[in-house]
Amino acid sequence: MISKKMEDGFNNQIAAEFYSAHLYLAMAAYLESIDLPGFANWMRIQFQEEEFHAHKMFDYVIERDGRAALKGFEAPPFEWKSPLDVFETAYSHEQKVTSMINNLVDIAIEEKDHASNIFLQWFVNEQVEEEASAKSIIQQLKLLGESKAGLFQVDREMGQRIFTPPTAA
Ligand code: FEO
Repeated sequence: MISKKMEDGFNNQIAAEFYSAHLYLAMAAYLESIDLPGFANWMRIQFQEEEFHAHKMFDYVIERDGRAALKGFEAPPFEWKSPLDVFETAYSHEQKVTSMINNLVDIAIEEKDHASNIFLQWFVNEQVEEEASAKSIIQQLKLLGESKAGLFQVDREMGQRIFTPPTAA
């Protein structure tokens, strides 16, 4: 059975993952509003990934005979200054999530909860990818500068992204 401290840590993280999902969906709405449907599609997929993260933790808490809780979360922002601003926000958000996952690993170690530590390694690796993908889009946007044609081209590419459940990948 999972300890109370570990259970609380997971339940806080479940809320954070659902918040991330809504943050990215809010970003999709903003990107649609400035006629970038491909970038918006990328964020819609990100929304699905975050929901997957939340469900994965939810199921794990239950599997360990804990009690999964839905703690709720604040509303995400509504407006951004530009696509670059969106992805810079996403990147710094993912850095924050990485540090939350690292804190959960610390709790697992303190609690001598080896199963949770092993379970969390999936998230540790996932965060490396999450940060890298946001960072690479920031770099692309910076390279484009004011080029509308370049932005249109990248938007088309980002429209190709599809959701693949991570465990099936
Ligand atoms: Fe679930 Fe983007 O971290």
